[in-house]
Amino acid sequence: MLKDGQGLDVANADAKAIEALDFLREEWLVFGKRFDGFMAAADAEETCALLPVLAANLVLSMNSVDGRALGAKYLARARILSKGIGPRERAWLDATQAWLDGDADKSLAIHEKMVAEWPRDLLAGKLGQLHAFNLGDAEALLRIGEHLIAANRDNHFVWGMHAFGLEECNRLDEAEAHARRAIEMGRNDPWAHHAMAHCFEARGRLTEGVAFLESVSDCWADCNSFMYTHNWWHQALFLIDLDRTDEALALFDSRVWGVWKEFSEDQINAISLLTRLELRGVDVGARWADVASYLEGRLHDHFVPFLDLQYLYALARAGKPSVTEMLASLEDRGEQAKPFEREAWADCAVPAAHGLAAHARGDHAEAARLLGQAMPHLRPIGGSIAQRALFGAIHLDALIKSGWNDAALKILQADERERPTVPATKRALADLYRKLGRAEQAMTADYQAERLARQYANA
Ligand SMILES: [Fe+2]
Repeated sequence: MLKDGQGLDVANADAKAIEALDFLREEWLVFGKRFDGFMAAADAEETCALLPVLAANLVLSMNSVDGRALGAKYLARARILSKGIGPRERAWLDATQAWLDGDADKSLAIHEKMVAEWPRDLLAGKLGQLHAFNLGDAEALLRIGEHLIAANRDNHFVWGMHAFGLEECNRLDEAEAHARRAIEMGRNDPWAHHAMAHCFEARGRLTEGVAFLESVSDCWADCNSFMYTHNWWHQALFLIDLDRTDEALALFDSRVWGVWKEFSEDQINAISLLTRLELRGVDVGARWADVASYLEGRLHDHFVPFLDLQYLYALARAGKPSVTEMLASLEDRGEQAKPFEREAWADCAVPAAHGLAAHARGDHAEAARLLGQAMPHLRPIGGSIAQRALFGAIHLDALIKSGWNDAALKILQADERERPTVPATKRALADLYRKLGRAEQAMTADYQAERLARQYANA
């Protein structure tokens, strides 16, 4: 039996199939976009089940109805080729079937077992981490990284993968050390750059973040649209917090939105960035209408709640009547949720969706009430800490605008403790202190905001 480049047995494979599998692994790990050749190889494959089953995973990761239909076809093809396959390939079939069936928790469990048994199977780790990410399960993200790194210490991609799990578990120093090690071993590692961005973001290390991302951004030219637009999205977040909102808006136009407007990941990067800009008072013009025009087909998607909530907010900000249909559809989805996903869909997504719609139409009291209900259940909707912070920011805005001062103050003070470098946080605190009659604290916060802003302007 032939082995792949990671030394793993591959049943029913010839040299060409092995070459295709090795190419796919490397291209996936570097977040490349040259997948056409692999898909053609999977289409033409007549013996090796691993090619179509991996093709199924690739299209399922698109989070689209078409991707799901195509994924089912590839999986069916893999089953036809499954005679004589080994336990690892069997596990791939089972994990993929579970994903198609909407049992992401089962897919995650299978991938976790796979990396325990075959820690050289880096795509099993990659897919496992994707499911963990979509389920908001930072601990699973980390466990998978631990299995992988023990068996792949010479592979910089694995250091980057582990770094992200560490960051999502708030082990920031270790995360940064792992990401830096990855980049020392191999500079062209966009996922390690991304892990670094998260480390800077978590502590509000804004100028360092901007300089670092700028210094490695040349590596992203060959990235697929998810990684390209997402790393630039991170750069835009730093710029917003540095009061450089004009530059962030320019990045929206030049890098974040426009690469692949039909793709879920590009869409949520765009939505999240427009929202954050608006929350800082930026007029984003006709951009909502453009983004929303790509979302009308997603009203009944319901792949990951984290995605749905952002689609819904964009539709609402663009004033699309279809928001009502999506809200009703989300309520149905909440009612049909399986036990493992009840908290995400029923306890979080449904009230959050109504809260977001309320915020979008300017009903801040209702938004504050509903988002307040949803926020304690936010983690399992999926996404990263930095991405989910969007909902916290909208909730905070609703609290401030509806005069819920005590609750807003608590959140702002916590924000300031975690990220003491953001002038906008200090200014919001100053406004709130003034409303509460705490003049001295307001003056201090204003002074600090001004000092920070001056420092950034002179940098
Ligand atoms: Fe990120």
